[in-house]
Amino acid sequence: MSLRRYVLASAMTGLLATVSAVDVRADTDPESLVNALNAVFGKYPGTRSGHANGFCVKGSFVPTAEAAGLSKAPHLSGKGPWPVIGRFSMGGGNPKASNADRGNARALAVHFDLGGGTVTDMVSISAPVFVAKTPEKFLDFLQRVASKDKAKIEAYFTENPEAKAQGEWFKSRPIPASYATVSYYAVHTFTLTNAEGKSQIIKWKWTPKAGEVGLTDEEAKAKDPDFYRPELTERLAKGPAEFELSAILGEPGDATDDPTALWPETRKAVKVGDLAISALEPDATCDAGIFDPTNVVDGIAGPENDRIFEFRSPAYAISFGRRTQ
Ligand code: HEM
Repeated sequence: MSLRRYVLASAMTGLLATVSAVDVRADTDPESLVNALNAVFGKYPGTRSGHANGFCVKGSFVPTAEAAGLSKAPHLSGKGPWPVIGRFSMGGGNPKASNADRGNARALAVHFDLGGGTVTDMVSISAPVFVAKTPEKFLDFLQRVASKDKAKIEAYFTENPEAKAQGEWFKSRPIPASYATVSYYAVHTFTLTNAEGKSQIIKWKWTPKAGEVGLTDEEAKAKDPDFYRPELTERLAKGPAEFELSAILGEPGDATDDPTALWPETRKAVKVGDLAISALEPDATCDAGIFDPTNVVDGIAGPENDRIFEFRSPAYAISFGRRTQ
C-alpha cells in the first residue's frame, strides 16, 4: 500500500476506533474541543481545525548508531534511509495565519514510512510546552478566547500560571526566518524501550542544522504574510533542509503526565538521527490522512496518564472527518 493510501486508511480506522476510547473520567470530550477551535478561528471547508495554514514536504531519515541503544523501533534501530512525508504549519485554525506572528507556534509533523504499510508519526511544535495541562483547561482557554473578553483571557493565565510558559517561550525568541531555522518539540513524555527491554523516558526535539535564525518584527512585517512556502522552495533548490533528532533524557521524578512542564536545560540528550527535507510534496498527500501523535510502534510508547495526549487522536479524527466531508 502506498504511504498516502495507508495514511488515509489509518485515519478512517482511527476515526471509528478512537472516538470512543477516551477516558470516561473526562468532563469534556474531543468534539467539544474541535467545536471550540472552530468557534475561535472559524470553519473553513477542507481545512484542518488546528494548524490550518501549512504545506506538505518529503525527505528521508537516517538513525544514528546510538539510537538503537534507546529504542528497538525500526526507524531507530534499522539502517535507513527511511522515507518521510512531513508537514510544516502555523498553529491555530486560520488558514491565513500570518507567518510573521511571533506569538504563534510553528510546527513540523512527520510520517516515517517503515515499509510493508506501516507508518509511525511524530508531531511537534516550536515550543517544548503546551498551553493547557488538561482537556478541560484547554476547553476553558478556547472558550475564553472565543468570547474575545480580554479580562477573561488574562484571568486564565492568572488562574493557571503553568500555561504562561508557552507564550513566554515565543516572546523571548525572534520570529523564525524559515520553517528550517527553528527547533521543534513533541511536547509529551514518551518511553523508549530497546531490544534488551531497557526503558527510558524522553522528550523529542528536532534541531535545525541551519541554526536558529530569526527576523526582527520589522523584517517579518515587510514580507508577504505567507512567506514561508516561497522561502523553503528557494532554500530546497540549493539543498535539503536538515534537522537533527534528539531524545532528551528524563530523570527520576520528571512528570510524564504534564505537557506544560518544562524540563531543565541541563537534561542530557542523545542524537538519534538526521532528517533531510528534500522537496515540497503535493498538499493532497498530507491532507489524505492524519499526523497522529499516538501512532507509535513497538519501542516507543506514549504517556499513559497525560490526558491532553489521550484527547489528541480522537480530536484529529473528528477534524479529519469534517475536512473531508
Ligand atoms: C487536547 C489538545 C489538542 C487538541 C484538541 C488539538 C487539536 C488539533 C486538531 C483538531 C488538529 C487538526 C487535525 C487534522 O485535521 O488533521 C491539530 C493539528 C495539529 N496539532 Fe493539535 N491539538 C491538541 C494538542 C496539541 C499538542 C499538545 C501539540 C504539540 C505537539 C499539537 C500539535 C499539532 C500539530 C503540529 C498539528 C498539525 C498536524 C498536521 O500538520 O497535520 N496539538 N490539533
